[in-house]
Amino acid sequence: MFARHPNRPSSAWHKTQRRQVAIFGIALILVTTFIILLRTRPYSNHPFAFPKLKWNSFRPFIQFSPSMEFMNGTDAIWQIPNSPKAILFIAHGCSGKAANFWDRSPGCPNCVGLPEERLLVLHALARKFAVLTISSTNVCWDLKRDRKIVKGILKWWIEKNKLEGLPLTALGASSGGYFISALATDVKFRSVVLMISEGVFEAMEIPRNYPPTLFVHMPKDRARVGRIAENMEALRAKGIDVGELKCMEFPLTPRLLSDRIPGLDQTTSIAIFEIFKEKGIVNDDGYMRNDGRKIDWKESLKERDVLSDKYEWSSHIQEELNLAFGYHEMTSLQSEQILNWFESHLSRF
Ligand SMILES: *[C@@H]1O[C@H](CO)[C@@H](O)[C@H](O)[C@H]1NC(C)=O
Repeated sequence: MFARHPNRPSSAWHKTQRRQVAIFGIALILVTTFIILLRTRPYSNHPFAFPKLKWNSFRPFIQFSPSMEFMNGTDAIWQIPNSPKAILFIAHGCSGKAANFWDRSPGCPNCVGLPEERLLVLHALARKFAVLTISSTNVCWDLKRDRKIVKGILKWWIEKNKLEGLPLTALGASSGGYFISALATDVKFRSVVLMISEGVFEAMEIPRNYPPTLFVHMPKDRARVGRIAENMEALRAKGIDVGELKCMEFPLTPRLLSDRIPGLDQTTSIAIFEIFKEKGIVNDDGYMRNDGRKIDWKESLKERDVLSDKYEWSSHIQEELNLAFGYHEMTSLQSEQILNWFESHLSRF
């Protein structure tokens, strides 16, 4: 046995050795933690995406500073980060517009900054996508007329900003999804995302080089689930890469609205939640009992003076209620997986 002796000359050496082991141990833990943090992306492999991000989560790293142009009967609004790696064209749903994706600012006084649209754009900018939004010329997208206009603007915009070498990707929600699914037959997107939309595949001959397609949808929309399943099958039959992301309902919390909507303060958010609970608009667990578009939640808020007639956040609140209900709404909750989809198909050609 090795006998300990307080005055042995090796004791100092042992102390140093122990300290080195301790330092090495701590370093190992730190490095491991760092690697785990790096590899863990928000929401990844999580079927139940709950809003974790706040409206200002990207500050101060990413700020809105969009450019815009009005041309050929429509408007284009865009932002290009430093050293962009790809282009993302986003098509809104019916009644949407390019201005919904960007915060109101001196540079864009008519911008609306809807909570999901703006967060989707911020996610994309953070991942170095140059983001271009264009408004449809009518309430919904016109598959013929808008196709010509958008192709013209895309070409003009890419040349103007010298982005010729960059891979193109596209995301369309609802009517925008129909539009993107058709546009993808003659614009060379590396991959596309169809959100709450089955696309117009039954009306086309799907070419073999059709881009990889990710369907992001809300299964509560039963009728659409069936059509999406059929179209996924049709795409697969042509050897095209397809993916599916299901977005489920989630409960409201007292601070959900102030967390997600820039300008809506916490007191108002909590007051709205309390009224919703009292009125039975949400159940005891905070879930929406019904589609927020079908109930007069605004009236309940007016009664309590929480909402005036010209309340500017009504459409912002409506969007979050629809999202929480999990039925046919724009969503940014799956932004990470959506951008992973785009990134994993950037070098397709
Ligand atoms: C606008 O429309 C005209 C006429 O169709 C066309 O020549 C022009 O290229 C379009 N501009 C853009 C930027 O698409």
